[in-house]
Amino acid sequence: MTSKEEHMLRALKLAKKGLFTASPNPMVGCVITHDNKVIGQGWHKSPGENHAEINALNDVIKNLGKKSKEILKESELFVNLEPCTTFGKTPPCADSINDCQIKKVYFSNEDKAQKEFSKVYPEIKVETGLLSEEGRRLNRGFFSRIEKGRPYISCKVASALDGGIALPSGISKWITSVDSRKDVHKMRASSDAILTGTGTVLKDNPQLTSRDSGLDVDSFSQPLRVIVDRNNILTGEEKIFSSNARTILFRNVESEIQEKNNVEIAKLPANPSLPLDEVVKYLAEEKLINNLMVEAGAGIISSLLKEQLIDEIIQYKAPKLLGENRKSFTNLDVAIEKLGTIELSVIDIEELGDDIKYSLIPNY
Ligand SMILES: NC(=O)c1ccc[n+]([C@@H]2O[C@H](COP(=O)([O-])OP(=O)(O)OC[C@H]3O[C@@H](n4cnc5c(N)ncnc54)[C@H](OP(=O)(O)O)[C@@H]3O)[C@@H](O)[C@H]2O)c1
Repeated sequence: MTSKEEHMLRALKLAKKGLFTASPNPMVGCVITHDNKVIGQGWHKSPGENHAEINALNDVIKNLGKKSKEILKESELFVNLEPCTTFGKTPPCADSINDCQIKKVYFSNEDKAQKEFSKVYPEIKVETGLLSEEGRRLNRGFFSRIEKGRPYISCKVASALDGGIALPSGISKWITSVDSRKDVHKMRASSDAILTGTGTVLKDNPQLTSRDSGLDVDSFSQPLRVIVDRNNILTGEEKIFSSNARTILFRNVESEIQEKNNVEIAKLPANPSLPLDEVVKYLAEEKLINNLMVEAGAGIISSLLKEQLIDEIIQYKAPKLLGENRKSFTNLDVAIEKLGTIELSVIDIEELGDDIKYSLIPNY
């Protein structure tokens, strides 16, 4: 690994500190070097707070005092996302970088939501694409919302060795280990929203909040709970409407469930099939959802797969057998008819107690 890559890797690690707080902004980290030595660093915590570049520049000033002005002119800046050029909640970082006359800026990924940095400040040297794959993966939710107009959609599946996600009766508590369930709660905490269907709400009556991740519950916001209830089946009394998190309900007809502080009815035009692509587009446009987690049964998961909307499947596989007539997480007959076999690329495998966690990307 070259020293430039090492600096960018450090910026990416700093960026990841914003995993639970930066959204809907991207996770960004920044490292400033002089003669190849790190003289300052910073990361972006949450919307409205300083961007990573400003925190890194302030860090240099704190570390070097009066000398910083001259040293910054001979320094290089490594940031995983193209510096912003327009006013958002804070002034453009590009202006501050230009004011300091930084020698060269390296960034991993372009920010298509912004005017190009090099067009605004053509006199500053720029190198792009350093650890770009790692940068794209880190901010996959942000890039999906900006570029595709929908969130990055990760589907969690807790299954037995034979693929079952519930007994024939529909009972699914608890197939996987305590370690896996803790990991799921972490995934919930790092997601902006969780989508489920009426089948899961009626069978499991879940709260879909993040409670048992091991993280301090005040260190992140509870994800928005998203329910698709095409036929007005739910009453509003289910745990998914509990007051400890927000819920948005997608329905076709005038809802009998009233909006209240934490419950909102989505304003989508009536459509009997309530297409899920419209739902996820609404979540990106109206709610700025970058990362959407799906915790549902075969009904919702198969519909999403058919529409090629699932970007990643996270499967927790436990050494158990649920036997004949177990419930699967896809209605594969229908999926195969439409798509042929869906092959999945394994991008990660992890052991969690006796379970195995697979991260899989569908190759549609
Ligand atoms: N192990 C796990 O990880 C896990 C996770 C979640 C659930 N589960 C299990 O999964 C089982 C429930 O499965 P399920 O398939 O009934 O639940 P589901 O996928 O949560 O809900 C399916 C229902 O959602 C509604 N829906 C709304 N929009 C839809 C669309 N575009 N496409 C398809 N359906 C849509 C349908 O009802 P309408 O036609 O009335 O709209 C459908 O019956 C339970 O036994 C639960 O325990 C297991």
